[in-house]
Amino acid sequence: MVALRPTAIFSICVSTCWKREFMSRLLISCLVFIVSITLRLAPLSAAEETATLFRELCSVCHGVGGKGDGPSAQGLEPKPADFTNCKAMAKDSDDVLFKIIKGGGQSAGRSTVMPAWRDSLSDQQIGDLIKFIRGLCKK
Ligand code: HEC
Repeated sequence: MVALRPTAIFSICVSTCWKREFMSRLLISCLVFIVSITLRLAPLSAAEETATLFRELCSVCHGVGGKGDGPSAQGLEPKPADFTNCKAMAKDSDDVLFKIIKGGGQSAGRSTVMPAWRDSLSDQQIGDLIKFIRGLCKK
């Protein structure tokens, strides 16, 4: 008993110190998380979020402006369509675009280079991206 006591005290101390440190770290990360969420989400409208998604996930092939001229589209055959070309884009219905984005080009008999996004994007996000793409058609 007597021999155990210092060890017991030591271990209690270590565990509470560790807990205190752990709790304060937890608190700090919670605060950082909340602050980053408010900073990130508050000023971003749904439309801006979709534009960000397109820039981050799609522009590497489709080009920042959606003309099908992203750096990874070089040498591709077939190339991604020019989203700014209304006539070319009118050939595919929203349902077809949805299918291509969700299941990849392959799901609609198109290029297998176009990835499937079903695991990383919700149906809502895919729908928003289609609206965004339709909005790029100007001529
Ligand atoms: C690795 C390159 C690549 C990435 C990344 C990519 N795409 Fe594509 N995408 C293609 C290619 C190539 C085609 C053309 C398929 C065809 O016509 O056979 C295509 C086709 C499409 C089409 C059908 C119209 C067209 O261009 O023929 C849509 C809509 C589309 N992509 C949306 C997206 C969206 C939205 C994203 C991001 C979430 C995305 N793509 C990311 C390569 C890519």
